[in-house]
Parts: sequence; structure tokens; C-alpha cells
Amino acid sequence: MKTSVATVAVLALATLGFTSVQAADPKPKEFQRLVDAAYAKFKNLQDGKNADYIPILTKTPSELFGVVIATRDGKIYTAGDVDYKFSIQSVSKPFTAALVMTQQSPEVLDAKIGVEPTGLPFNSRLAIETYKDKRSVNPLVNAGAIAAVSLVQANSEAERWNLILQNISDFAGSPVPLTVLEDVYDSEYTTAFGNRAIANLLYNYERLYSEPEEAMRVYTRQCSIGVSARDLAIMGATLANQGVNPLTKKRVMRAEDVPELLAIMATAGFYDESGEWMYTAGLPAKTGVGGGIVAVVPGRFAIAAFSPRLNEAGNSVRALNAIRFISGELGVGVFGPNPM
Ligand code: DON
Repeated sequence: MKTSVATVAVLALATLGFTSVQAADPKPKEFQRLVDAAYAKFKNLQDGKNADYIPILTKTPSELFGVVIATRDGKIYTAGDVDYKFSIQSVSKPFTAALVMTQQSPEVLDAKIGVEPTGLPFNSRLAIETYKDKRSVNPLVNAGAIAAVSLVQANSEAERWNLILQNISDFAGSPVPLTVLEDVYDSEYTTAFGNRAIANLLYNYERLYSEPEEAMRVYTRQCSIGVSARDLAIMGATLANQGVNPLTKKRVMRAEDVPELLAIMATAGFYDESGEWMYTAGLPAKTGVGGGIVAVVPGRFAIAAFSPRLNEAGNSVRALNAIRFISGELGVGVFGPNPM
């Protein structure tokens, strides 16, 4: 009995070792076939609805859908609406967490924000009260992301904003600088009473590191940056490429900080659906209420998708299905090929 368990364990480890060390990337034709297949398979899916708590997001055409794979050596495979600019929303959060790690350290991020998944919705106030010793809980929920913005080291609000925009632009490596969708900013900032409550609560508990309304302005601007699915894929490919943008070759974060960032994305990138996501797709990822999602196959490539209709947890239905499908077809889940 003991022998057979040991044998199974050795075989399992050998398989895992083989998968992570020796697996060759698919051929370009296979990548292209899969983005086309994912697009075709889910383009008629009508489930979910556009986010409406940020009023202007109801106006994004719901049928838009794009799927992109970007590899660590800068090759890009696309299907559908991959150049439409939508608001990045929460997909910005891991990248500003990366900036905090770069300016300070992963230890500071853990000590001043926390890295624990909440199991609660992304805009939860309850999480802040429930996990009192976990700071603002983690940088991928609204509370932790507002705190992350306030933790960026700068001498003024303008400098803090410029550092955040420059950092996200460096991850995207776009030849045209990224800009804020001002109508999205206005729509969110004038209705962000829930986030304002969060910022004030954090300030009250000394877990916010700038004046609350300043953090609100910078955080809301960050969420309103316009990106395309193509931009998101390159941002993810920069993480797959250990922090070096595959197009510009610029190092955007330290290679040794990438595993910590991917760990947070794996445990909290889909909010209270993160367990379900890792169980079925097996990839660190981040979603946003604008309809974008980026997932990372560590050391290899990124898969991004965009479509505005969201499920109850605030995750794009078509985008999550497309990425999960590609992950499953390629068998690239980080713990080994996922069964679904
Ligand atoms: O603060 C908010 O509510 C939005 N700016 C971002 C939330 C978000 O994208 C959640 N993602 N699924």
C-alpha cells in the first residue's frame, strides 16, 4: 500500500516537473486556432449584464467581444474586438500593487495592506470590519486597491497619479500613451459613495496612507484608464516574462516579486469566485467590471479577453469562458491540466 502511494506521488511529481520545465509552447497556428475557437464558441453567449452601478458602463455595446494571447517573446494572436478601448477598472489593481512592491517591497504590501482573500464581494465594507488584523485585506479588492494607491510614494497627488499611469503604460508597452476615459471617470467619481465610505473607514482605522478624497480621485482615475484587450494581454505577458515587457524590453518590476503578485491574483483575482476559477481554469488572473480579464501562464504567455456582460460576482461571462476554454484546451493550469 505504502509503496503504491509513494509510486503515485513520484509519478505525479515527475509529471508536474515535466509539465513545468519541458512543455513546449504551442505552435503559432495552434494559438491562432484557439483564440478563433474561443471567440466562435462564446460570441453568442448572452448571460449576464453590463455593470450599471457606474452609470456610463451601461452604454458600452454589450456585444463587443475580443480574445487575445500574447507570448513572453511578444507574439500576439487575436480574434474579435481586440482594439476597442474600455475602462480597465479592477484589472489595474495588481499592476499598482506591483508598483508598491517595486518602490518598497512585497513585505510592505503585506504589512500595510494584506494578502488574504476575502470570500466577499469586491466592494465589501464587511470585510474591513471582519478581518480587523488584516489591514485592508488584499490589494485586489476595492479597499486594498484604494489603500495601494495611497501607498505609492510621491510628493504630490499629481506625481502619484503620473507614477501610476506611467507604470500601467509601461506594462502595456503601447506605442500610443494610455489615457483616462474622462466620461467614465466623471460617471464613477460622482457616484462612488460606497468607495468613499471604504476610504473613510480605512482612514479611521489608520489603514489609508493619504487623505481619503485624494486616494478616491487617484483610484477612480486609475480605474478609468482606457485599455484594449490587446493592451491587457501584453500587460499579462509582461508578468509571464518575469517583469520585462516583451515589446519594449523595459523591466517594469523585479523578477523576484512576480511570484508574490501572481499568488495574489490566483487567490483573489476573481473575488468571491476565485476558488471556482482556480478549480476550473487554474490560472492567476484579474477581472474588471469594464468587462476585461487577463490571465497569466507563468513563464510562458498571457490570455486576455473582453466583453461587457458580467455575472453576479462582477466577472465578464464571455471573457471568463473564453480564457477557461483556452487554458483547458492547452492544459496549462498551474497545478497541471484542469479537468474541465
Ligand atoms: O471601484 C470600483 O467599484 C470600480 N472602479 C472597479 C471594480 C471592479 O472592476 C471590480 N471587478 N470586477
